Amino acid sequence: MIVLGIESSCDELAAAVLDSDGRTLRSSVVHTQADLHAQYGGVVPEVASRDHVMRVGHVIRRALADAALDPRDIGGIAVTSGPGLIGSLLCGVEAAKGLAFALKKPILGVNHLEGHIAAASLEAEPPEPPFVALIVSGGHTSLILVTAHGGPYTRLGSTRDDAAGECFDKTAKILGLGYPGGAVIDRLAVTGDANRFPFPQLMPGKDNLDFSFSGLKTAAVRAVRDHGAPIEGQTLADFCASFQDAIVDNLLKKAFRATKTSGAGALILAGGVAANSRLRARALERGRREQIRVTLPSRANCTDNAAMIARAGWVRLVRGERDDLALTARAHWPIAA
Ligand code: KG4
Ligand code: ZN
Repeated sequence: MIVLGIESSCDELAAAVLDSDGRTLRSSVVHTQADLHAQYGGVVPEVASRDHVMRVGHVIRRALADAALDPRDIGGIAVTSGPGLIGSLLCGVEAAKGLAFALKKPILGVNHLEGHIAAASLEAEPPEPPFVALIVSGGHTSLILVTAHGGPYTRLGSTRDDAAGECFDKTAKILGLGYPGGAVIDRLAVTGDANRFPFPQLMPGKDNLDFSFSGLKTAAVRAVRDHGAPIEGQTLADFCASFQDAIVDNLLKKAFRATKTSGAGALILAGGVAANSRLRARALERGRREQIRVTLPSRANCTDNAAMIARAGWVRLVRGERDDLALTARAHWPIAA
């Protein structure tokens, strides 16, 4: 079944066409609004949904054109229906419903986090369950045990306060690096000394699989204030490297612990922060050392996109799952209890 995926949960609007093998991408179009929100230092929900409304038809049409596909050849439509910003979600969901009605095709609402997990299945050598997924994005930081494609999912740990991406973005903001700042910190950190700024150990509890990033954010604010002068040049690179390592150390320590204690044996990284070069390099290196298979989706499939939604929807649509035109958006939708 060829699946059209649609994603609009936050400030990215995306559409993708996945071939009937569930692996081959015929097209993937992502329109990001980062420039629109940069002046506000974060996503403004009203601005996000208004822009989605204007562009959704165009983005879907481009994905179909890139796939060289007659819309009637689509087998099903998968659309992110939660969690996320309600106005943004509704835009994708309503567009998908209109299309499903007009084309008389099945429609399925997909959980955005299930989409992030499914991104790893688009890789050349996809992982087979059971595996642990570390989902690290602007809104989520969770460790999920995946026992089968499409679930059920078991939550092993999650953040008690800020998400990892949020911590990157807020720290980038106080450093004057703009929004979203995760990728900027990643780039600046490459030439930095990670031992220069001492950041605190996060949630050091031995058996704990939860995360907490608010202490690190406070430490970053204090370090910037104590430093006095604007942080720039080599000092900025050192600051970014030290800060980034504090997050990466913590994420990997818990992710590998979760993989071992759950008996899963394989780990995947997912979500926007999984595009971080230091996190990727250290995850692979540690996986080799500890003989745990680590799968990293391509960077483009880590940040929000519709290919991952098409894949997650494909798994469910081919086994007969369907929604009807009463499908609506859910701002809150936990993937696991
Ligand atoms: O998955 P995503 O695109 O959207 C959400 O579902 O939240 O994740 C966006 C987050 C932002 O916080 C962004 O700063 C972060 O991912 N991010 C990065 C990198 N690229 C994106 N964080 C660290 N290093 C990166 N290279
Ligand atoms: Zn996301």
